[in-house]
Amino acid sequence: MKMEKNGTAEIRVDGKTLTYPVYEGTEGERAIDISKLRKETGLITYDSGFMNTGSCASDITFIDGEKGILRYRGYDVADLAEKCEFIEVAYLLVHGSLPTAVQKDRYSQLLNQHSMIHEDMKDFFSNYPEHSHPMAILSAMAVSLSSFYPELGQDVKEDLDMTVTRLISKLRTIAAFSYKKSIGEPTIYPRHDLKYCENFLNMMFSSPVRKEPINPVMADALNKLLIIHADHEQNCSTSVVRGVGSSGINLYASIAAGICALWGPRHGGANQHVIEMLEEIYREGGDVSKVIERAKNPRSPFRLMGFGHRVYKSYDPRAKIAKELCKKVIAATNTKDPLLDIAQELEERALNDSYFQERNLYPNVDFYTGLTYREMGIPTNMFTVMFAIGRLPGWIAQWLEMNNSETPIARPRQVYTGPNLRKVTPIAKRK
Ligand code: SDX
Repeated sequence: MKMEKNGTAEIRVDGKTLTYPVYEGTEGERAIDISKLRKETGLITYDSGFMNTGSCASDITFIDGEKGILRYRGYDVADLAEKCEFIEVAYLLVHGSLPTAVQKDRYSQLLNQHSMIHEDMKDFFSNYPEHSHPMAILSAMAVSLSSFYPELGQDVKEDLDMTVTRLISKLRTIAAFSYKKSIGEPTIYPRHDLKYCENFLNMMFSSPVRKEPINPVMADALNKLLIIHADHEQNCSTSVVRGVGSSGINLYASIAAGICALWGPRHGGANQHVIEMLEEIYREGGDVSKVIERAKNPRSPFRLMGFGHRVYKSYDPRAKIAKELCKKVIAATNTKDPLLDIAQELEERALNDSYFQERNLYPNVDFYTGLTYREMGIPTNMFTVMFAIGRLPGWIAQWLEMNNSETPIARPRQVYTGPNLRKVTPIAKRK
């Protein structure tokens, strides 16, 4: 869908008034098109961190950060999480519409057909040191897929469909294999008789000597967790996927770059850091005040993990879903996790503190997801991998949209602040 022209904006530069078109999206978001600004004035816009810059027009995901709304292809995320399986949402993001029952069955079969990875790729796992972070393995394996499955034609739809299916199916297998490697157990192959989430849980928790029954509450929780992570418009890793892809490189390489971007603690890596923060509070006696004070201290680089968001200035709708899921999974396991009590107290204290209120800092998606994964038996260093499996269909959909729309290569400008021209002093004379 194209943006509609709706008005103009005047910019006064050096005594001259220039007029630029204003475009409007389907939900009323308006943007000044300044693409001719530099040509006409010699000026560029300065927008560190792209806080006010729309890098593309997109049909995929809509967020209203003030109202706490998140929709994929027009469907509310809570509605999707309640009524759909993850592979339906993956289909929706990639193909633009929800599958019919027949399409879903066919898609499920296709994903199963492509769930194995080349046997030679398995050797890679044995050569990583024992404590390798699974995100490092995941990104390296994602780009390695381009060597093992190279028959990819970027302009041929059937080839691209095959690549997309392979990625969605195989990344889950790679994730489970990387976990097995980290605990020194043999890998468990995917099974054709299991659904996407059940298959993943089986590869994670069964072993050649022990068939672990799949708890339907866990499979349902995993489905929902993957759905709430499935896309989030132009976040850091998605912008990286689009940016890398705009150079003309293949989908596997672009996804590998996205995985690396997601790993950072200010992005998807925060889910791991939330648990580490809660564990630290627990070890030190359970008092949340110290952490709150540290997060508020302008001289400390520490941030309250799982709090704050570039777009949401209200409660992240995904955090609401994750919080309820977390309680459901804890109830199903019949356990009592002291970290949940600490998390809830931390949330309440922060939401009633003027520092967090004035800055509109609320729990984000990462605040309760880690706790839920932990209850499901997924180890802390796998949390960001779980985020990546969920985000994959979103990255793919965004990459395809970029690839179909002849996007120019991503190439921001800069304001240079380094030294002016100077002469090289011969090395013997340098002090
Ligand atoms: C994800 O963008 C996406 O869509 C990402 C994501 C997705 O689905 O792809 O939603 C996933 O990345 C979630 C975010 C996970 N990260 C964390 O939980 C790490 C902690 N959060 C922050 O580092 C921070 O809130 C960011 C990085 C998420 C957002 O940063 P912004 O928009 O650049 O805001 P900012 O850092 O400029 O903060 C504005 C003010 C600052 O205070 P002042 O300088 O104005 O006094 O709020 C303060 C910040 O210091 N602040 C925090 C805080 N987050 C912001 N203070 C304490 N604790 C925090 N968590």
